[in-house]
Amino acid sequence: GTPAPKSPTGASYATPPAANAQQGAYLTTSAGTRLRDTDHSLKAGPRGPILMQDHHFREKITHFDHERIPERVVHARGAGAHGVFTSYGTASALTRARFLQKDVETQVFVRFSTVLGSRGSADTVRDTRGFATKFYTEEGNFDLVGNNMPVFFIQDAIKFPDIVHAAKWHPDREIPQAQSAHDTFWDFVSLHTEAQHHTIWNMSDRGIPRSYRMMEGFGVHTFRLVNEAGETVLVKFHWKPKLGVHSLTWEEAQLAGGVDPDFHRRDLYDAIEAGAFPEWELGVQVFPDTPEETFAGIDLLDPTKIVPEELAEVQPIGRMVLNRTPTNFFAESEQVAFHLGQLPPGIDVTNDPLLQGRLFSYLDTQLTRLAGPNFNQIPINRPHVPVNDMLRDGFHQQAVHAGVAPYRPNSLDEGNPSVDKKDGFVDVPVRIAEAPKIRQNPVSFDDHFSQARLFWLSMSPVEQEHIIRAYSFELGKCYEQAIKERQLRCLARIDPVLCSSVAEALGLPVPAPDGPIAEVTGSPALSQIGHEWPAD
Ligand code: HEM
Repeated sequence: GTPAPKSPTGASYATPPAANAQQGAYLTTSAGTRLRDTDHSLKAGPRGPILMQDHHFREKITHFDHERIPERVVHARGAGAHGVFTSYGTASALTRARFLQKDVETQVFVRFSTVLGSRGSADTVRDTRGFATKFYTEEGNFDLVGNNMPVFFIQDAIKFPDIVHAAKWHPDREIPQAQSAHDTFWDFVSLHTEAQHHTIWNMSDRGIPRSYRMMEGFGVHTFRLVNEAGETVLVKFHWKPKLGVHSLTWEEAQLAGGVDPDFHRRDLYDAIEAGAFPEWELGVQVFPDTPEETFAGIDLLDPTKIVPEELAEVQPIGRMVLNRTPTNFFAESEQVAFHLGQLPPGIDVTNDPLLQGRLFSYLDTQLTRLAGPNFNQIPINRPHVPVNDMLRDGFHQQAVHAGVAPYRPNSLDEGNPSVDKKDGFVDVPVRIAEAPKIRQNPVSFDDHFSQARLFWLSMSPVEQEHIIRAYSFELGKCYEQAIKERQLRCLARIDPVLCSSVAEALGLPVPAPDGPIAEVTGSPALSQIGHEWPAD
């Protein structure tokens, strides 16, 4: 196994022991009674019916009948691995988080996933990929729940059920299982045009990664770091794969998906077992924490926008190596529960309305998926530090809590836990603008096309060709002509060549755009990005 990671204080954070199971030499019931036979049910004579009193039969069948739990409502298909994160210490001036101080090693568990398909769907479909990392830090767990694309479809979490209903299967025939090739998806993204930027990333080769080992990861939202002195900066997190970013071609994806629907899962496990440990560098783009929360004219609270790396370099802060496959898929990859609110002192959230909604959703869904409020007691979710909370009882409670007064302060129990004013979690006292309560976005959120155009312009000719073919194939699967036409009008706002090429492939007239062709807005430097590719 992996050696227990070190901390600056020399303490060790070994994985907690698994629940009692597979001990002793003899087969037993779940209550520990040794069995003489497990192959024959207890019957009224060799040819008779099974007797109700056969407890072993009933326990064995009942347990089997209840083996499945609900799959995740999104990101159901995935695979995980264990590893180690080593911090360079380059972020130590920005954050007090101890796992980001120099040379600290922290155990991690990472789960990669597709978004749309069911648990048994193919790995190789065109989709966004999840990239979720649980750092078992010496100050409690930190979950960085990101994707392999740096932007998201929507700006406000209240639309998440809507985009997922539109992007998952049609409710009547439950097709397609796992691809964005259908009417409701294109209906949504052409009507909710903030989704156009994420959609063009999906239609690019990033939508069909070659391997989990060859994907970037992005925290997407802007986070706030706070250091010992209470000073803050805004950051975006990036994972950079050591092997570089590579994709399948569409034809390869079709073949691999047919021959081996487990293509990415197998690749991850085989690589680790062969000792070719997947590796990423974690980096941050750093922005001053100004009241406007913008950088180079880009709204840092808008999750449909990137900050180009040409304008804010990604500064490496640590390195992650995945070096151990799970022992049991269900216990680890299936039962792992990530949550953006699990933050160590030194990292805090911002007011990005997508992030804010996610803070509610994950805990809420896990209450159903993992049947009750005690899922942080499951081994894969347990922090590697002492826990002393005042949460009690509930389904699947494993702890035997002592004492009579689970509140503090109290005068009855000895040694009731103290709060830690020095090293406890820091809620950064960000000033909230004096503003009316309102259901409305900032005006800057109205720009839906400029960065989709920026992305298109930054592509090489062969990548542009792949994008054209992807839109043509996926839109070609729509039944409704009006939806194809509306999406073509969106493409016309991104780029005339993109629009006319897709229109031609679909056999439809080239439409006029619904609005002006996007300008790349923000800092003047933005308009310098792209355009540079020589013709073939
Ligand atoms: C699951 C990423 C937006 C709700 C996941 C997972 C990832 C992810 C990686 C899979 C975690 C795992 O492997 O267990 C993202 C990113 C988002 C985003 C990067 C935007 C930047 C949202 C929003 C909501 C949401 C806006 C809801 C308001 C969920 C839910 C799950 C999930 C309910 C299933 C969690 C579980 O069953 O444990 N997301 N997501 N996500 N996401 Fe998101």
